[in-house]
Amino acid sequence: CGIVGYVGRSQASQRPLEVVLSGLGRLEYRGYDSAGVAVVCPDGLVTAKRAGKLTNLLDDLAEHPLTPGSAAIGHTRWATHGGPTDGNAHPHRVGGLAVIHNGIIENFATLKAELLADGAEFLSDTDTEVVAHLLARAYEGDLTEAMRAVVARLEGAFTLLAVHEDAPGRVVGARRNSPLVVGLGEGENFLGSDVAAFIASTKEALELGQDQIVTITADSVDVIGFDGEPATATAYTVDWDATAAVKGGFASFMDKEIHDQPKAVADTLLGRTDPRGALVLDELRIPEATLRSIDKIIVIACGTAAYSGHVAKYAIEHWCRIPVEVELAHEFRYRDPIVGPRTLVVAISQSGETMDTLMAVRHAREQGASVLAICNTHGSTIPRESDAVLYTHAGPEVAVASTKAFLAQVAACYLLGLYLAQLRGTKFPDELREILEDLHALPDKIQRVLDDEEAVRHVAQKMADEESFLFLGRHVGYPVALEGALKLKEIAYIHAEGFAAGELKHGPIALVDEGQPVFVIVPSPRGRDQLHAKVVSNIQEVRARGARTLVIAEDGDEAVVPYADVVFRVPQTPSLLAPLVAVVPLQIFACALATAKGLDVDQPRNLAKSVTVE
Ligand code: G6P
Repeated sequence: CGIVGYVGRSQASQRPLEVVLSGLGRLEYRGYDSAGVAVVCPDGLVTAKRAGKLTNLLDDLAEHPLTPGSAAIGHTRWATHGGPTDGNAHPHRVGGLAVIHNGIIENFATLKAELLADGAEFLSDTDTEVVAHLLARAYEGDLTEAMRAVVARLEGAFTLLAVHEDAPGRVVGARRNSPLVVGLGEGENFLGSDVAAFIASTKEALELGQDQIVTITADSVDVIGFDGEPATATAYTVDWDATAAVKGGFASFMDKEIHDQPKAVADTLLGRTDPRGALVLDELRIPEATLRSIDKIIVIACGTAAYSGHVAKYAIEHWCRIPVEVELAHEFRYRDPIVGPRTLVVAISQSGETMDTLMAVRHAREQGASVLAICNTHGSTIPRESDAVLYTHAGPEVAVASTKAFLAQVAACYLLGLYLAQLRGTKFPDELREILEDLHALPDKIQRVLDDEEAVRHVAQKMADEESFLFLGRHVGYPVALEGALKLKEIAYIHAEGFAAGELKHGPIALVDEGQPVFVIVPSPRGRDQLHAKVVSNIQEVRARGARTLVIAEDGDEAVVPYADVVFRVPQTPSLLAPLVAVVPLQIFACALATAKGLDVDQPRNLAKSVTVE
């Protein structure tokens, strides 16, 4: 969910509501089932909330404007407890108090039973309303103190913001296992689930620690721990440009972010080699001796980030001769994994807030592993809780379906692999230099794929009525196939599955029938191990059974032509690096097809960009 809070000096201004609504617009990628606001006005508290996207709430507010006030809170929801209805939307009110919440209160059933026995009346099915009742009962004139009493009773993950009509000019926030940052203004202060909430107003921010409560007024920010002791929060300056989070002339954020990819990769590689071509990774603060002694790498991540880990496995094992396992974070955490001081755990996350990944990071560290985060969001929780971080520099990613963050994650994984190879001496310096040169050539090659996007769009638009797609790839083409299928599922709501092409004959080929569209990611004919020939045979096998074949192949690869209904060309690229070009037509395809179906590609149904519950 997305959360915004604001306080200014005036008792009756429109600014609180304006700030909160514009913040919600930028945070909507965190959830968009419903939205709501509460404003503390001279005459008391006013609230408005609506199921559906933020525009529903904006339409309501245009018809029934709220009274000006001194402070406001706002929420955009990704439903956990209780469906996306007007009643379940936040804020939840009890008397003159309103509260918004991101996360899950795990002991809410016990607390609710207790409150019901005490005569509380519930208007929603949410766990949040329990907090509103508890706060209202604990409030004796000091909202911060009431918050402290209530958080002591809560289990689970939460960011909470509360306002009370008896305490105008004040917003109180609390966080446990869920993000909350403070924005510092002149005569005004802000709260947000991330800096996008207030980036239009200030770049000066404070990062709250775990289990902290913050009270903001127009001129003060006070932080205490859940134990009531004064606490400090870390100050930093946001290096994003507010304009980086707007569409810049593209039809959707996803479209824009696909086109940002050459820059996302170039920026991620930038400044990471010294003048002699040796790798410099300043942020890698795990001692070299530890990195030399590791005997296993485990990549943990979810969704698209996990597929970047799959690509990393092929490259890192080949370059460094260290076994690499890739595991979904939620599976890793709950299966008693074998992890120790000689394990390097690499946690990949665009947002740095994915709860499944965070819990796996904590578990790995408890077992004595070193954890390196590969992350796109500065100051987010996963890098903060890891031993070291290698930031991707993709810039803010807004569309729910990840594109440029994926490419940047893969690029960062390559850097990590090259660094380890350099450190452990598994590659000669001139070999490393050659791979680095190939890496630096990638942004231009990605641009060339983008320059040919019209051909991909054209085919996608004609296939908007298809009901199922299969994706096949081998070696690094396999995770590319998985990612291509995920993109179609996420934004076009089409059944799509990715397979290792060699597995085809062991089952999936039974799915192939007359007219079945099948994407095939073809490796370079210059590659090793006859892989190219094997994949060309796979194309023939599905074609012989009636499939329509959409083939991603290198420029100049004529061997695929007789068996392809359509060929999408990508520039010649060394095999291990090819995913960064091969995935791009698949992203363009999914985006164009979903757009042709009239769907909202940036905010697909049921999903959220940053899933901060387990
Ligand atoms: C959600 C998003 C996916 C994303 C995944 C991991 O499920 O919808 O697009 O790949 O989370 O997110 P992260 O921020 O950890 O990379």
